[in-house]
Amino acid sequence: MLECWHDSTPWKRPLPILTLAQTKGGSGKTTTAEVLIAEFTWRGASVAALDLDPNRPLGRFVARAPALAGVEVAVPGPDARVSELIADLSSRRDVVIIDLMGAATPDMLVAIGFSDVVVIPSQLSEPDVRCGIETWQMIREVERMGRREIAKAVLFTRTSPTLRTRAQEHARRQYEKLGIRVLPAEFMERTAFKEMTFNGSAPNLDDRDGNAARNVIALFEAIVALLPGAAAAPGLAATAEAAP
Ligand SMILES: Nc1ncnc2c1ncn2[C@@H]1O[C@H](COP(=O)(O)OP(=O)(O)OP(=O)(O)O)[C@@H](O)[C@H]1O
Ligand SMILES: [Mg+2]
Repeated sequence: MLECWHDSTPWKRPLPILTLAQTKGGSGKTTTAEVLIAEFTWRGASVAALDLDPNRPLGRFVARAPALAGVEVAVPGPDARVSELIADLSSRRDVVIIDLMGAATPDMLVAIGFSDVVVIPSQLSEPDVRCGIETWQMIREVERMGRREIAKAVLFTRTSPTLRTRAQEHARRQYEKLGIRVLPAEFMERTAFKEMTFNGSAPNLDDRDGNAARNVIALFEAIVALLPGAAAAPGLAATAEAAP
């Protein structure tokens, strides 16, 4: 059943490696990684995470969530280089989600170099936008080095579920005037996304009809639509209904 379901997903071939990158700290990388780990898992994918943040938040989050017991979280060490870990995880798992620290690091370039899609979380602030642009430019450099394009987009984070602010329009214009793609879905500010860090209870695992879960589903679908070949797999939303 899962095999059949996987065959119709855009991430079956090539196996997607998805990186959350943004040189600005506190932009929402880890929170986005956590809900995406939960979402891919809910949809039946075999998920690995690579935690490149020295605080190692992903292992603690996954350990708190019984539904994520099958998720493998790897961290680099003296005998495990980032490139080796990515190659190993992606050979064994459907999806590899990579969380980076909020700084321009060599790990960031390696992770981007392996990625099928890079998401740049950005709050609606000048430092976030400035660093978001810097991150986009670093991805462009990796593209030139590797002579290939990488799917990439900015994800606005911690936006108001009720208000459209001027900051939102301004930030969007700052990105778009440089040709930087901004995802149509935003990651909204909700207490459920803070609470899950204490109890592992990702809203999209627990209450699929709630507002927080619906927000995660919308941003998940916007991200998956970036993947090469996604347009050829229009059944994605429908197949999601087949998951447990
Ligand atoms: N959608 C959201 N709703 C509510 N709180 C959020 C949301 N996204 C992030 N936060 C909170 O914002 C803070 C920063 O988020 P997060 O840790 O995900 O950022 P980060 O980019 O991973 O930071 P760092 O660069 O330090 O690793 C955390 O306290 C997190 O709980
Ligand atoms: Mg983080």
